[in-house]
Amino acid sequence: MSAGFKVAVISRDSSRLERLRTFVSPNTKENLITVVGNVGSEDGAEQAKQVLLKQVGKVTDIVSSLGFSWWQGGPPHTQSLKDLQWVIETLLFSTFVSWKAFFPLVRDNSDYSYTFITGGAGEKLLMPGTGFLTVGAASALAFCQVLREEYPEVPCKLNQISEPRTLGD
Ligand SMILES: NC(=O)c1ccc[n+]([C@@H]2O[C@H](COP(=O)([O-])OP(=O)(O)OC[C@H]3O[C@@H](n4cnc5c(N)ncnc54)[C@H](OP(=O)(O)O)[C@@H]3O)[C@@H](O)[C@H]2O)c1
Repeated sequence: MSAGFKVAVISRDSSRLERLRTFVSPNTKENLITVVGNVGSEDGAEQAKQVLLKQVGKVTDIVSSLGFSWWQGGPPHTQSLKDLQWVIETLLFSTFVSWKAFFPLVRDNSDYSYTFITGGAGEKLLMPGTGFLTVGAASALAFCQVLREEYPEVPCKLNQISEPRTLGD
């Protein structure tokens, strides 16, 4: 944002967006656009897209980082189907639905990009009790791999990041 790029963030929770604003320096605040919306539902993603387009005109780079920071609910035999449904809905369904709505905005331009943050959990059990995180992250990772295979000719750059680093790493 300090280089002049506009960044738009969509959240279902306006208080999270307000909190985000407090992290941005006053000089660059005008480059942060916040949109209240639910990109995890088909209607919500379409609505959020229209609001966004009205505000910014065009979108060049999209980052999909949907899910949750951490899940360590325990080994599978201690979990319910509802727990697994929630994990898949949060990590996979929202990733798919938002991709379907937003990918057409960047698909046909080789200078544009669509980036998925899937996390290292998709490749292995991170530690005991993180099994459903592994299952959810693996399904998001598989979805990215499917997109690469299904749309090999698409000009837009499709990126997938497995290991986002936190500050201090
Ligand atoms: N934090 C890490 O160190 C880390 C490390 C490796 C991988 N990752 C991966 O990065 C991704 C995001 O993690 P995070 O730490 O940024 O989590 P986070 O702060 O909890 O953010 C999760 C985001 O996903 C959205 N979301 C969740 N469920 C949704 C749904 N059903 N419909 C629409 N939006 C939904 C949330 O939207 P709302 O704002 O509307 O709630 C929020 O924007 C996850 O896939 C995670 O596995 C994170």
